[in-house]
Amino acid sequence: MSEWWRGSVTYQVYPRSFQDSDGDGIGDLPGITARLDHIAALGVDAVWLSPVFTSPQADMGYDVSEYTDIDPLFGTLADFDVMVARAHELGLKVIIDQVLSHSSAEHPFFRESRASQDNRRADWYVWADPNPDGTPPNNWVSVFGGSAWEWSSHRRQYYLHNFLASQPDFNFHCVAVQDWLLDTMRFWLDRGVDGFRLDTVNYYFHDKHLRSNPPEPRNDVQPAVNPYDMQDHLYSKTQPENIGFLVRMRLLLDEYDGRVMVGEVGEGRRAVQVMAEYTTGPDRLHMAYSFAMLGPQFTAAHFRKSIEGFFADAPDGWPCWAFSNHDVIRHASRWAEHGNPDDVARLAAALLLALEGSVCLYQGEEVGQLETAIEYHELTDPPGFKFWPDYKGRDGCRTPMIWDDSAEGGFTTGRPWLPVKAPQLARNVAGQAGVAGSVLETYRALLAFRRSTPVMQTGRTRFCDLPEPVLAFVRDAEGATLTCVFNLGAAPLVLAVEGVASLAGPSQAAVLTGDNLSLGANGWAYLAGAAGLLSVPTRHA
Ligand code: BGC
Repeated sequence: MSEWWRGSVTYQVYPRSFQDSDGDGIGDLPGITARLDHIAALGVDAVWLSPVFTSPQADMGYDVSEYTDIDPLFGTLADFDVMVARAHELGLKVIIDQVLSHSSAEHPFFRESRASQDNRRADWYVWADPNPDGTPPNNWVSVFGGSAWEWSSHRRQYYLHNFLASQPDFNFHCVAVQDWLLDTMRFWLDRGVDGFRLDTVNYYFHDKHLRSNPPEPRNDVQPAVNPYDMQDHLYSKTQPENIGFLVRMRLLLDEYDGRVMVGEVGEGRRAVQVMAEYTTGPDRLHMAYSFAMLGPQFTAAHFRKSIEGFFADAPDGWPCWAFSNHDVIRHASRWAEHGNPDDVARLAAALLLALEGSVCLYQGEEVGQLETAIEYHELTDPPGFKFWPDYKGRDGCRTPMIWDDSAEGGFTTGRPWLPVKAPQLARNVAGQAGVAGSVLETYRALLAFRRSTPVMQTGRTRFCDLPEPVLAFVRDAEGATLTCVFNLGAAPLVLAVEGVASLAGPSQAAVLTGDNLSLGANGWAYLAGAAGLLSVPTRHA
């Protein structure tokens, strides 16, 4: 029970876009409750809700102005309790998003902190004097573009914001801030949540001396759409003091039974090292959410490097892998050039659900949902406005969940806050349910297989040396083995299998005859018995 999270699968709900119950065009808690059956029927272990707390919604809820209440957009605390109770009845754990690194600028504590340099919350946020020439105290930049410092005319000082200027960073060097945030977490633990997704977990502390960051040493970082990546964020995040706060959070969770923390580790070159540091040992995070597979790379070498690299550097750490979330282009679109979108969606699901570690799915990927093409007049995401058209923001992956092919996809009876378009409507739950081989039924079958096959949850991974585009690895645990083989390309190929093997669980475009395994475009197979005895593929004549 207490380690249920090892090898678990979590389904991420983006509340604004899951199900609207009151016709205002924005999803809400009663809507989520009504749709929990869908999530439970998929066969996942847990549901993670992006923030539903009181917020001016400048960053769609990642700017909290009251940590222990629900935003009226989403409902009430009573609606929250009903949702948790229903999830638990269905056997689903509930993980909520905690945005601790920064608050909204409309949080009463920030207003208080901003009022003067000597009030009781004066040091609750990160304040600094200007340079003699009036410029910000150092070169730190914001993830959303521009300086990470914003001037306050009230206080005549700058304050730090790693994201929007309306998301001021808390000063974690102030112990009262830590104590207070831990109390807000206790509030939700007492309400029965099973854990937390910790937003930007490595951004909590900043360098006390406010030293400027050096340039990023990799020489391939040219001026880009957003110059954030040109800096090596040595001093503005991932400070050594962070570990102390992780330990404090873990002590809190350990007062309860079976609660879990998954931290979002946004790091560059040092990502694996930080994930290892944050999840090794019984006194830190349970899992670290990885960015490794959220990018354009869709090669066997990349997946192998990500998995092998993690377990080599963090043999006792625990990763959580995802291909999509509310911040990145949906993977069925991102990897579209590698085959037919539905084939790629099914192949990706088979791969993700075969990985060692835990897994996060993002709402809509179970129907192979594609990124929505967003026009300028439809934009809501601040970085989209800032960098348009070179970067179009994150609205395209946040459009409503499509339940059926009715006008707004069954999401709302009103006007949805982001548009519902034809390519998205074509991929809907009702249209795929019960249809053999649909993306949805494939997810269900894969999840059932992962659940009933312990080696897929906790087996170790050994990679086979095969040329691109074949990715193959063996999962094994206590004598049980499963060989997982994927054709990441659209051209069919044949592999020679040595030893006795049989297909196990779902497969796609895979035929095993005698010693040959044929994989068609984006084909995959799980093989029982063939423990890695695959040889170099020869292409079909
Ligand atoms: C969340 C984003 C959010 C940012 C700032 C992230 O990593 O996933 O959606 O904009 O943190 O809170």
